[in-house]
Amino acid sequence: MDKPSTLPTPSGFSRRMSVLDRIFSELGRAVQVLDGSVHAGRPNPAGKPPLSADESAALSQAEQKHAAGLMRVNHVGEICAQALYRGQALFCRDASIRQVLHRAAAEEVDHLVWCRDRLHELQSRPSLLNPLWYAGSFSLGVLASRAGVGKNLGFMAETEKQVEQHLDRHLSDLPAADTRSRDIVTQMRDDEISHRNTAETHGAHKLPKPVQLAMKAMSKVMTTTAYRL
Ligand SMILES: [Fe+2]
Ligand SMILES: [Fe+2]
Repeated sequence: MDKPSTLPTPSGFSRRMSVLDRIFSELGRAVQVLDGSVHAGRPNPAGKPPLSADESAALSQAEQKHAAGLMRVNHVGEICAQALYRGQALFCRDASIRQVLHRAAAEEVDHLVWCRDRLHELQSRPSLLNPLWYAGSFSLGVLASRAGVGKNLGFMAETEKQVEQHLDRHLSDLPAADTRSRDIVTQMRDDEISHRNTAETHGAHKLPKPVQLAMKAMSKVMTTTAYRL
């Protein structure tokens, strides 16, 4: 049975958080994610940013551009993950599963911030289409949340499995000298594996093959576009 979410009030009392409250809260969160005002809860696995441009100078101009394209793709992936999980949690009736989704979303915020910081170090920028990616992914997440807990978690497990495969490809594709991006992507991949395990432990259903293929096709469109835009 769903437990009511509560909001503290100045008088110390709590009141039930209505669906409308949650929707407004989600709108506020979307703005924070998109304007870059969210903060990571964990330190950057690549360590402190370089004090000079020496570290970037280890990369040729072509390598730097390629690394920036890949990290922009990863940043968009994290925008999508953030929106998906928050959408999946919005109408999820099981409070413990909502907690699982929010915990994963919090770690995706770390990934988001690390990718954004690395993009800046590479003298590049996030995708211009991020608001579109966020809105599309959030809507997908809401659809998944209406499909029941097993399928909702199945969607999370399949997403994480595909992201893990994608990050493995990036680890072989990133320039060898780009150790900072590699450190970030390696930690992200470890976290995504843990998210998939969590979804499976909590009862994720395996999604039908056509849904898995549709997710792969959508991801292909996203990665191809985000590399340049
Ligand atoms: Fe992530
Ligand atoms: Fe994840």
